[in-house]
Amino acid sequence: MKIISIANRKGGVGKTTTTINIATALSAINKKVLVIDFDPQGNATTSLGIEKKKGQASSYNVLIGTCPAKEAIVATNLPRFDLIPSSPDLAAAEIELVDLSEREFVLKKSLMKLQADYDYILIDCPPSLNLITINALVSANSVIVPLQCEFLALEGLADLVKNINAIKRNFNPNLALQGIILTMFSKQNNLSKMIEADVRKYFGDKVYQTVIPRCVRIAEAPSFGKPILVYDFKSTGAQAYLQLAKEFLQREREL
Ligand SMILES: Nc1ncnc2c1ncn2[C@@H]1O[C@H](COP(=O)(O)OP(=O)(O)O)[C@@H](O)[C@H]1O
Ligand SMILES: [Mg+2]
Repeated sequence: MKIISIANRKGGVGKTTTTINIATALSAINKKVLVIDFDPQGNATTSLGIEKKKGQASSYNVLIGTCPAKEAIVATNLPRFDLIPSSPDLAAAEIELVDLSEREFVLKKSLMKLQADYDYILIDCPPSLNLITINALVSANSVIVPLQCEFLALEGLADLVKNINAIKRNFNPNLALQGIILTMFSKQNNLSKMIEADVRKYFGDKVYQTVIPRCVRIAEAPSFGKPILVYDFKSTGAQAYLQLAKEFLQREREL
């Protein structure tokens, strides 16, 4: 089992979209996948067409240690693809965690018990570097960082790298930066190209060759409760995510 956190301190950069579409592609090639919606906004949960039921255990309960991960899992409409849904309560979890001993390790301990059940667990992080994200990074083998090809994209990236290193030093020595994915790329936009060049110069082969273009169909998909790979397989966005999944697997084999 491999645990991957999808993180970036910025909101709206494609974390959730990337999480659910990599998960969809992996499940389509027979991998057993669990997505953990770790953002109080619950976009991964809604984007998968899952209704948040009252009383349903969520990633919040798992994070504060009041529910085993296994009991918070729900099936999605896709085979081999499960979810631990989010809850708005997650926003308050940070305060509740402060008093717990080993508060950085609660999620990790819980996920260790799922070892035999999944090939991949993908954690969709909130846009911040709080204790929720720290729990995700402490649990993970690696981090994937989606980066929006827009002005100030690089802002915050240096901080994230610093934070990843701090977590490596203090809690999780094996945490690796698996890769950076450029998202919402516009061909017509020179800025997109400049940012791509900058990021590649700085991070070299950590940056995936595959670039996700800006694509209206991707933005439509969540309201239909479907990943773009299911909603419109032929769209440029879906094809890019398919290509990304191939590159992801290729890189996994080379590790
Ligand atoms: N490549 C893309 N082209 C167009 N819209 C996109 C693309 N990727 C994501 N979006 C849309 O942009 C918004 C933010 O994406 P999302 O994946 O939710 O980012 P995050 O999880 O980082 O906040 C969502 O409405 C999503 O549907
Ligand atoms: Mg999100």
